[in-house]
Order: sequence, then structure tokens, then C-alpha cells
Amino acid sequence: MHAFRFDAGILTCDGVVLSTIADRAGTPTYVYSAATLRERVRAFISGFGDYPHAVHYALKANSNLAVVRIVRAAGGLVDANSGGEVEVALRAGYAPADIVLTGVGKTPSEIKKAVTLGVKVINAESAGELERIADTAVSCQTTARVALRINPNIAADTHPHISTGLVTHKFGVPIAEARAIARRADGRPGLAFVGLHVHIGSQMVGLEPIREAAAAVVELARELRDDGVRVEHLDLGGGLGISYDDETVPLVQDYVATLVEAVRPSGLALIVEPGRAVAGPAGALLASVVDIKHRLDGTRFVVLDAGMSELMRPTLYGAYHRITPLTESNAERVSCDVVGPICESSDVFGIGRMLPLPAIGDVMAVLDVGAYGSTMSSNYNRHPLPAEVMVDDGKWHVVRRRQTIDDQLACEE
Ligand code: LLP
Repeated sequence: MHAFRFDAGILTCDGVVLSTIADRAGTPTYVYSAATLRERVRAFISGFGDYPHAVHYALKANSNLAVVRIVRAAGGLVDANSGGEVEVALRAGYAPADIVLTGVGKTPSEIKKAVTLGVKVINAESAGELERIADTAVSCQTTARVALRINPNIAADTHPHISTGLVTHKFGVPIAEARAIARRADGRPGLAFVGLHVHIGSQMVGLEPIREAAAAVVELARELRDDGVRVEHLDLGGGLGISYDDETVPLVQDYVATLVEAVRPSGLALIVEPGRAVAGPAGALLASVVDIKHRLDGTRFVVLDAGMSELMRPTLYGAYHRITPLTESNAERVSCDVVGPICESSDVFGIGRMLPLPAIGDVMAVLDVGAYGSTMSSNYNRHPLPAEVMVDDGKWHVVRRRQTIDDQLACEE
């Protein structure tokens, strides 16, 4: 069941009344459901049954320490995309062996950090990066566990900004070159070549491209075995979509079953890196109405105190997020363009939303923003990063205080 639901006409998160949180913590504030985070991590893990697997939550979706600790306690490992995310994982209590490092453009210091820590695997993005990892490992007198990220040239059928599996995208090495690159890496001093990695996109709501990508790396692993290169695992990335507008999306267990079915003949262990499907439904953004601007055509702008600086997804991808008042009402619904206060015309959360006309000071909830909400927020227009609240077991607490202007200026001369 969705964490955010109306209970006797009042919007709640796992039983906690959201208007109470807005009153005490202020707005804009992100609110997360610990129960949903746990349930989603466990759904991924249990989906594998006894097939060898590891679920590495993609920290880029939401790396608030409290969120990461809950993922860890539920049995999830992590996929880090930068040195910063590796650091968050360590501070949340993960061991290096629990961390997969992915990412285009790893810097020398990120490579050194991953190599010296001895992370579980570094997903290498290019032949050159493999060389740099090898050189770093040799100079540190160690061996780095590496996998090669494959670009299978498969369309993910999602928004172009979050498609990553075509040769026109910057990610991975073309599958036609992968065999030769992997053979060179295997046996190279400093490297232990342990796996293949593929991630073709995010918010995928069809399983076919995912099945195809899995089949492509299974086939490549078979070819490599013929060459005498034995890998331990296949990492099939993340990408499972969530339902933003009541659309039907695959269940976690069906997604996992599809991957297992594709990989089972190889017998190789499976890694997945879900981000959105774990954190997305677990979060809402509370924002207050600060102005209502009536237009000549009878429609109106409802201006919130949160905009693209707090939640970038609508501006960047034209993403749809449900927007709802905190109290159900029978009042007539009118067409509202729900916008933020940022000085950009793209600062729009929803156009033509049919809502009861709010009053100034009313709080609205923007739903399904637990993933790629807070992590993509910025200080644009000198907005402070919003507060974050965790609801757990009928209680709530602030897990990140609202940034102050002094916090913002602390790094400036
Ligand atoms: N693994 C890799 C290598 C990735 O690049 C990503 C996401 C994931 C895993 C997790 O994917 P997920 O399960 O969350 O789909 N900011 C965009 C999404 C960007 C996704 C980037 N990579 C959005 O708000 O829709």
C-alpha cells in the first residue's frame, strides 16, 4: 500500500498527519517513509529466492544518511557513483566490500580511493579507465576487482535524458569492442576481472529492453568463457520504473524474475542497482502556497515555496508528479498551473491540475519524489536545501535540518 494516503480525509504518511510535520518542520520539506524503504529493499532481495544475488541500492536516488542506514538495515548493499557517495556509504556503516563504484569520468582520486579501500567492484567505463585502475592498483601494490560496463545499443523506451544504452550515449564500451577489452583486462597486473555491467536507462516500464540487455551480457560472458576469461557476476544495473500517475508498471518480483530467467543458464551471480524503485514511492515534498495569480482566461497560477531548486524532475524531464492538498474536500475543482518561485518559466510542477482552489498558506504534497528529488536539489536563487524528515513506526524526526544562509556562505570568502 502507498505510504502517503488519505485517512478520514487527512493526508498521512504511515499514519502520521503531514500537516503536523509541515507546521513544526516548516516548508519546503521532504518526508520519507521508513516502512516503504524497507519493504522495497526486501521485495528486491526476496525476489531472487535462492539464486545468487546482491542488491546494491543506487545512492544517487537518495543518499540522505538516514535513508541509507535504513536500506542497510534491510539488507541492501550500495552502488556509488562518486567519491562522495562512497564516503556516505562508509559513514552509513557499509564495508568497502559492500560497495560497487560506477560512473562515467571517475577522477584519479576517486579511482585511488576505490582501489585502496578495496571496494567489491569498480565498473569500468572504458579501456583507458581500466588501464588507469590497473596502474593505480599496481602502484598501491594491490589488485582491483573490475567489471566492464557494456553499451549494448538497446533503446530503453524512456525519456531521452535518462536513456543510457545506445551507442550515441556516453556510457560503457560498445558491445562489439567489449570482448577484446575484457580479454586484455583479464590477467593485466593490478586487475582481477570479475564481471560485466550494463544499465540501459531509468524509469523503464517495459521489461523487454531489460531482458534483451541481460541476454546480451549473458552471451558476452559465454564468449569470454570460451576465451578462458571467467567472470563471477553480471551486474544488470537499475532502471525499474515506478507508477507516477497510476499507470501500470512491472512488479519488483516480476522484474527480478525476468532477470533471473535470462541469467540462470549462465549460473552467474546477479547484481542489481535499483534506485528509483526503492526510494521513489517513499518520499513526498511538502510545499506551501505563497501566491495565487488569476489570469484573464479564468485559470490561475498557484505559486509554491518550492520549485525547480527543490525538485528538478518536472523542469528537466517534463516529469509528472501527483500534487495534492493535505485535506480532501468536496470544493469545486479548478484548473491550476502549479509553479515554483524561481525566476525561470520552466519552473513548473504541473500544468492544468484540477484542484480545489487553495488558500495562501495551504500546504500541498508533491508525491513520489523520494528518488532524484532531494539529491538533485540546488541553491539556485539562494534557496536553502530543504529539510528532510523520516517517518518511522508512527513517529517522525528531522533527518536533515533546513540549510541556513550561513551554511550556504560557509565555503565562500
Ligand atoms: N545504476 C546505474 C549505473 C545508473 O546510472 C543508475 C541511474 C542506476 C543504477 C539507478 O537507476 P534507477 O533504478 O534509479 O532507475 N535523475 C533521473 C534519473 C537518472 C538515473 C541515472 N542513473 C530522474 O529523475 O528520472
